[in-house]
Amino acid sequence: MSKLMDEVYVKAISLKKHIVLAEGEELRIINAAKKIVEKNIARITLIGRQSVIEEKAGKLEGIAIIDPAKSEKTPIYANLLYDLRKAKGMTQEQAENLALHNPLYFGALMVKNGDADGMVAGSISATGDVLRPALQIIKTKPGVNTVSSCFVMSMPENSVGATYGQKGVLVFGDCAVNPNPTAEQLADIAIASADSAAKIAGIKNPKVALLSFSTKGSAKHELVTKVAEATKIVHEKAPDLCCDGELQADAALIESVGALKAPGSSVAGKANVLIFPDLQAGNIGYKLVQRLAGAEAVGPICQGFARPVNDLSRGCSVDDVVGVVAMTALQCE
Ligand code: ACO
Repeated sequence: MSKLMDEVYVKAISLKKHIVLAEGEELRIINAAKKIVEKNIARITLIGRQSVIEEKAGKLEGIAIIDPAKSEKTPIYANLLYDLRKAKGMTQEQAENLALHNPLYFGALMVKNGDADGMVAGSISATGDVLRPALQIIKTKPGVNTVSSCFVMSMPENSVGATYGQKGVLVFGDCAVNPNPTAEQLADIAIASADSAAKIAGIKNPKVALLSFSTKGSAKHELVTKVAEATKIVHEKAPDLCCDGELQADAALIESVGALKAPGSSVAGKANVLIFPDLQAGNIGYKLVQRLAGAEAVGPICQGFARPVNDLSRGCSVDDVVGVVAMTALQCE
């Protein structure tokens, strides 16, 4: 286990948060729930049929199971969903159907109603199917308009990468949610990623670089203008945040290049939070660093929700689920 995840587990244990796992009948989720409860990382509720869960895993100690077909909360959640979505055209019947038959909606409604602190799902569901109920029901934190995501990237010890960021730890955003963010959304992603860097990655002084193929006007293009505009918005919305853009990746990371291309910048050459201009760049970027540099990539960590929701990869292992639940617990604070 990495040092980063060691610290995440220690913090999660001290918080004792209640996380709902919407895909409660999936064996990896049940096994993860057992490990989480054994290690005191969080309190867990599984959504699913008790008979199916017990047939797969035997009797579970210390883990709550809720079956929407039997829960007295289901009609309450259906009414809550109807109230939240009727202005968008949802009927009472549709709300009842979703609360009863879609555990991703049931889980998001539990969190919205204060019956759980956060939700984790995605082991058998696509990213969009996990995020959409959360976007519709839990929505964003006050003052935040954009839900986004980041990865905490830990470079292998003694590698060249370990000399960048905070001792080889960097945060990359957004690599999983917003396909083509506006300048305002990019600014939100930058501010939220800095917050995740401090809260989850233990980065003491986030230095945020908004990346582009241009440094400080070296190229003229509408895509570059968008990144420069986003940087301006960050300065207005978070004047204390150490942030600069637009910067090329080498100017952001390497002191000598930063000094040459962006003299006087407080971020160039020292960046530890990298903001990609769109989802193609972000998703490709984190996977290249993970595969070619051998970095550990922890995430995607969703940021900006009023209460935390995180999406698993469908290829996730039991330990991946345990890790994401622990990070979700940290985000409850
Ligand atoms: N932040 C805040 N609110 C949002 C966001 C956002 N990023 N995106 C959508 N919303 C809001 C909408 O405005 C809408 O609000 P309303 O209905 O109350 O007016 C609500 O959420 C639902 O929006 P939809 O239009 O139904 O959702 P959409 O179809 O836009 O889907 C989603 C949103 C699921 C996040 C979509 O953008 C998406 O699929 N993103 C890419 C996910 C992906 O495939 N990632 C790559 C794989 S992950 C990996 O490789 C690690």
